[in-house]
This record gives sequence, C-alpha cells and structure tokens, in this order.
Amino acid sequence: MNDNLHAEDPKPDDSLAIAVRDMDINDLAPVYHLGEMLFTSDLYPFIYRTWDQWEVIGLYNTDPEYCLVAESDGKLAGFVLGTIINKATWTYGYILWLGVNPEFQRRGVADNLVDRLVERMIDDGARFMMADTDPENLPAVKFFTRKGFNNVRRHVFLSMNLSKHEYYGKLIAYEREKADRAVWKRPRRPSKT
Ligand SMILES: CC(C)(COP(=O)(O)OP(=O)(O)OC[C@H]1O[C@@H](n2cnc3c(N)ncnc32)[C@H](O)[C@@H]1OP(=O)(O)O)[C@@H](O)C(=O)NCCC(=O)NCCS
Repeated sequence: MNDNLHAEDPKPDDSLAIAVRDMDINDLAPVYHLGEMLFTSDLYPFIYRTWDQWEVIGLYNTDPEYCLVAESDGKLAGFVLGTIINKATWTYGYILWLGVNPEFQRRGVADNLVDRLVERMIDDGARFMMADTDPENLPAVKFFTRKGFNNVRRHVFLSMNLSKHEYYGKLIAYEREKADRAVWKRPRRPSKT
C-alpha cells in the first residue's frame, strides 16, 4: 500500500471548513488527476477497477446527482462518485470511487462526502449501501467500517496471462506470416534500362 498517501494521525488543529457540492464540468480534470494520484495499482491491482478519465466523464454523464466534490478554501479536498442499482426487491446505492487529497485526509472530508451521498441515495429510494475496496487498503476498510458498513465478504479474483494462450500464439504466427508475405510480394521498382 502507498503509505505516504495516507495521513497517519489527525492534525492537532484539524478544524476544517468543508463545503460539499455537486461536481460540475470544471471539476472533471481536477477530480481525474486527484484520482490518478490516489488509485494506484497497489490499491486496485485489477483492471475492472482501473481509474481513467472515462470513469469521471462516464459517471458525470450517467449519474451526475451522485458525483460530489468537497472543497476547502476553494481547493479540491475530495470527491465521491456513486451510482444507484435498481433490482426487483431492493434499490442499492453503490460508492464506486471515494478519494481525499492527502493534504486533507483524516479531517472528516470523506465522512462529509459519504454522509451527503447516502442521504441523497436514501431520498432516491436506496435501502442498501455497497462499497468495495482491496482488503489491504486499511484506511478505506477502517473508514467504511466506522461508517457502519459491515457484512464484509472477501472476493476472489482470478487472472490469466493471455500471451501464453494457444490462440494468442496462433494469432502472432499468423500476423508474422502476413508481414513476411507482404515483404515478399512488394513490387519491385521498374528498372531504368
Ligand atoms: C479512505 C479515504 C477516502 C478516507 O478519507 P478521509 O477524509 O481521510 O477520512 P475521514 O477523515 O473522514 O476519516 C474517518 C475515519 O476513517 C478511518 N480512517 C481514515 N483514514 C485512515 C487511515 N489512514 N488509517 C486508519 N484509519 C483511517 C478512521 O476511522 C477515521 O476516523 P478518525 O480520524 O476519527 O480516526 C482516504 O484515505 C483516501 O482517499 N484513500 C485513497 C483512496 C481510497 O482508498 N478510496 C476508498 C476506496 S474507493
């Protein structure tokens, strides 16, 4: 885990004026860059949770009401991006990404963001909240536990290196053969004589 991205102890003077508001178009790049700093591959080793600009743009497009930012003194302190999942029996709120600028960590920013999001999701019919993270991500695990998330399930992810797959080998051989044939068939320049 990237320890230097986590504040170990709250600062003695941790009073902080935090304003939580809807994310707007001007926040897209700053939120993306803050996430780039926070969501490193040691926290999210699996591609299904890879942070990229489409996460921000996509969720801003599909779920703008669940994209919130926290500001302190005009500075981006953190963000939360979520979505609602409607099933026949329940409506679930899902926290997809939560990130706090290391400068502002351990000062209640995530607390504020999640409180606002949960209230909004309850208003919209959610009766169950979900969040996920790597079990090694202790700050996040502690954070969510303290917020009342429980019923922790460990999930097993499996992966396979496809460069060792038989079909991949055939594809490479085919492409190589095609390239060789292209070189072989290249028309020669007409001779000048
Ligand atoms: C997890 C994260 C969002 C917490 O944000 P935060 O604003 O620092 O959290 P808060 O100040 O609201 O903390 C509330 C509680 O969470 C727990 N917590 C937060 N950071 C912690 C840390 N580094 N170590 C241990 N507990 C921690 C504590 O119980 C804390 O209460 P306390 O300060 O009274 O002890 C932040 O560390 C972060 O951005 N991490 C990187 C991205 C990430 O892992 N996101 C979550 C999964 S998407």
